[in-house]
Amino acid sequence: MPRFDDYFLDELTNKADIVDIVSRYVSLNRKGDRYWGLCPFHGEKTASFSVVPDKQFYYCFGCGKGGGVINFVMDVEHLEFADAVEHLAGLCNMEVPDAGNKKVGDYKKRLCEMNAEAARFFHAKLKEPVGAGAVEYIKKRRLSPSTVTRFGLGYAPPGWNNLSDYLRKKGYTNAEMIEAGLVRKSERGVYDVFRDRLMFPIIDHRGNVLAFGGRVMQGDGNGQKYINTGNTPIYSKKNTLYAYNIAKKTAEKQMILVEGYMDAVSLHQAGFTNTVASLGTALTEEHAKLLSRTVNEVVIAYDTDKAGTAATERAIGVFGENGISIRILRVPGGKDPDEFIKLNGPDEFRRVLAGAEQQMDYRLAAAKNGIDLKSDDGRIAYLKAAGKLLSELTSRIELEVYAGRVAEETGVSRETVITEADRIRKSAFAAEKKKRHVTDINPERAVQPPRESGVRYADPVKARFEEELLSFLFTYPELCEKAGELVKTEDFTSPELGRIYGTLISRTEKGESTDTTALSALLSPEDMRLMGKLLAADRPHSGTEKELSDICGKIGNKPGDSGDPLMDIRNRKRNMSGTKGVY
Ligand code: UTP
Ligand code: MN
Repeated sequence: MPRFDDYFLDELTNKADIVDIVSRYVSLNRKGDRYWGLCPFHGEKTASFSVVPDKQFYYCFGCGKGGGVINFVMDVEHLEFADAVEHLAGLCNMEVPDAGNKKVGDYKKRLCEMNAEAARFFHAKLKEPVGAGAVEYIKKRRLSPSTVTRFGLGYAPPGWNNLSDYLRKKGYTNAEMIEAGLVRKSERGVYDVFRDRLMFPIIDHRGNVLAFGGRVMQGDGNGQKYINTGNTPIYSKKNTLYAYNIAKKTAEKQMILVEGYMDAVSLHQAGFTNTVASLGTALTEEHAKLLSRTVNEVVIAYDTDKAGTAATERAIGVFGENGISIRILRVPGGKDPDEFIKLNGPDEFRRVLAGAEQQMDYRLAAAKNGIDLKSDDGRIAYLKAAGKLLSELTSRIELEVYAGRVAEETGVSRETVITEADRIRKSAFAAEKKKRHVTDINPERAVQPPRESGVRYADPVKARFEEELLSFLFTYPELCEKAGELVKTEDFTSPELGRIYGTLISRTEKGESTDTTALSALLSPEDMRLMGKLLAADRPHSGTEKELSDICGKIGNKPGDSGDPLMDIRNRKRNMSGTKGVY
């Protein structure tokens, strides 16, 4: 069934936020961790249709329809999987890879492998005499050997053909090297792009080496301090965050966002392993979505110079739309995080981090910049700007607090500030409503009676534990590997649940993503619906290994389990048929 490669589906998942897409058809209201609306698939007066942004799925408690964003498009537009993917890609302005073209996926995989080969080449150079200068530079920047290994840093030697000769011997063609941005063409053949530079491989969350950054080692290189791989078939800056491959494993509920390679590497070394870098580029919506999958708060620790301040403002806007809360860390002394931590140590950084401002403090301070609060004009200008900022607050309590602060600064009453903020919010809301066109739901479709969706389990008692295991793993996917050791697909009594489990485990084993979009390419819509139901149930779990092994202990049909040998044989038969056709 899968006609689209993982890269494409991943990119689509990144772009196609389920809340955005569903909002085109259904008007949604947020309550707690999920959105609610009137189900587009059956007529109803009270909302039982839910969308959970964290897990990117929807489920209707009324009619039982559910699944990932692609399933939603299949259901609402009455499309087959492949057509739904194309339709969705169209909505997101994405090009669909050629129909039936598996070669594209293979080709990208080959480019990644070549990049990995190049990364190994650069890394190995650090151990050779030619790399002595780079080792010296690494010491000067105070990076430890284990940091160098963890980030796969390396050295591109001087000379025009070191890497290209090496890769050619490994069987790669000039055309492939050019595609990946490792070499460039000249009249006399090709030449290496990275020469005499400290190399930073850029690795995605699946561990693929997508691109490189290379730093000059003397001075700042006259505007060529870093050179970076441009956009290639496997790398686009707007989808990638440096160090996300490591940072995504963080247990912290917050991510630190910095500008540069060195900032990220340095903070990781100092123990802040929840750090990613946007590499000097403007933060994109894709970046924000990537982060919103792991954390709900981002601390922006960009440089304090003019460019960094502008980038911070932009990032605040992007995050605002993704429902991530933000704090802004202004590193004291005009240093970047790398310099600061080397000068003052991790503890001092931790202290500054704890004091990072809520975005509203930061933005109010920025709005006040250059305004003379002693003049009437100044106060009016500030009140207007502050009113606009406060109008974006969704919490009444925060509004009260910040309005109080603005009132104090300007000598106006708190009520006046609040009234101003409310006025601005209302007019912005009216304008937005006018602008937004919500696609009308076809009334004929909408009155379809709810379809019976319940799966009938042959062994409801056992199936309940199987359901519980799956719902546990959806919340704690990092424990899939462990689960795979404890419970085999054959242990499942329900073929439906077994198929979902089997897919989850086999993808984990191969290091592939298990998000809803990837799964919807492999599982039938019926199985996805069942999965939606499990996801929606929201059972309370603590996510410990102990809890996992407790649940796993209740699953499995070893002979003698039921105390009834005949029943056991029947069960085992059922298990075997249940595992047929998982892939
Ligand atoms: P900075 O100039 O702040 O560099 O650029 P840095 O990260 O502090 O690096 P060091 O400490 O001097 O080694 C921030 C980021 O902008 C991008 C890089 O991603 C860099 O990490 N940049 C900067 C470039 O791509 N090219 C450049 O020439 C400069
Ligand atoms: Mn720096």
